[in-house]
Amino acid sequence: MQKVRFGIVGVGGMGTVHARYLLTGKVRHAELTAVCDIDPNRLKPFAALPTFAHSADLIRSGLLDAVLIATPHYDHTTIGIDALQQGLHVLTEKPISVHKADGERLLAAHTNCRQVFGAMFNQRTDPYYQKIRQLVQSGELGAVQRIQWTITDWYRTEAYYATGGWRATWRGEGGGVLLNQATHNLDLFQWMFGMPTQVRAICRFGRYHDIEVEDDVTALLEYANGATATFITSTGETPGTNRLEVAADRGRLVYENNRLEFIRNAVPAGEFSRTSTESYAQPRRTRQEFTFPNHGGQHVAILQNFTDAILDGAPLLAPAAEGIGAVELANAMLWSSLTGRVVDLPLDSAGFAAQLAQLIAAARPVQATGAKNIAEARPYLIEVQTN
Ligand SMILES: NC(=O)c1ccc[n+]([C@@H]2O[C@H](COP(=O)([O-])OP(=O)(O)OC[C@H]3O[C@@H](n4cnc5c(N)ncnc54)[C@H](O)[C@@H]3O)[C@@H](O)[C@H]2O)c1
Repeated sequence: MQKVRFGIVGVGGMGTVHARYLLTGKVRHAELTAVCDIDPNRLKPFAALPTFAHSADLIRSGLLDAVLIATPHYDHTTIGIDALQQGLHVLTEKPISVHKADGERLLAAHTNCRQVFGAMFNQRTDPYYQKIRQLVQSGELGAVQRIQWTITDWYRTEAYYATGGWRATWRGEGGGVLLNQATHNLDLFQWMFGMPTQVRAICRFGRYHDIEVEDDVTALLEYANGATATFITSTGETPGTNRLEVAADRGRLVYENNRLEFIRNAVPAGEFSRTSTESYAQPRRTRQEFTFPNHGGQHVAILQNFTDAILDGAPLLAPAAEGIGAVELANAMLWSSLTGRVVDLPLDSAGFAAQLAQLIAAARPVQATGAKNIAEARPYLIEVQTN
């Protein structure tokens, strides 16, 4: 294979952006050969390509090697399973599924290790998060004591939610800020620090917006080694914050405002405490700052890495299998808040699915989607297609 032939399912906001990257040659050795959307209006800009109204027909068209799923969340599972069963490589948008039981079904369909199955966790390409992960996982930071991540710079207006359709509904989206915006951060969290063993959380539903799902979350996590973490997110605060602080035996990391600071203890905190003969002494410290010119290649880098994985066997930056961690954390936070209980991990996936079914049963009907939010990208695409 010289070039990977991509088909995109769902050419709304994000699918259109991915299409543009592929059509303008941003991804080496990759081409867009067909698209699919249930909304015929969204297919119009792609008239120069074969288009499909049903994902099953696109998947069976013989026109693709890989499918990129950019539909609302619930369909990631069903379309992903179909594409995997038909032998295609699959790249799914985040989250890989709405709830853990769906994620398990989806991952179980990936039985052929020659099929590449990735997830669009574009923030994994950010060198700041890569550096934090390396400092934690190499042991350079020592045993982690406490993590605090306030990630509230996901502000969204009422107009964003008022576009209607699947967004911010239990039936259409399956959750709010945890599943949509902060799913990136939950993925990074477990990618950098691993999974906790217990979760408790307070979620506020429609605190800032006229929506039924959560738009404000404060969670407390506990790790097997006794480390604790707070995770705070919201779509209602502006100016928002993105501040990640990690206290560890060998020092402290703070990431905020595009700066990563590492204050390193010359002697680890635990050892110093045991060996110092002075009551109020502290270890000597050195300060290091990491800055990077940008936040990495983001979506294009994930598309490139996925393509390279198919053509050359490059290791995936974001395997879909790892995407279940973010789903599990989001589900656990929601469940804890709804029940007022501490939720043990690994999560009881069937139990949470039953809880979600109750929320759906009591939910408002989903309104028709407003398509206005994606209009700007369209004329540009038409130009590219006709050239
Ligand atoms: N990685 C990122 O940075 C990022 C950013 C935005 C959105 N997303 C993800 O992309 C996905 C889509 O979000 P969006 O904002 O583009 O939504 P959107 O509503 O703008 O687009 C979704 C499109 O999917 C189509 N669709 C729905 N069901 C379908 C089906 N069964 N088959 C074919 N087409 C179908 C809709 O008609 C619509 O055109 C979501 O999973 C979202 O989380 C990711």
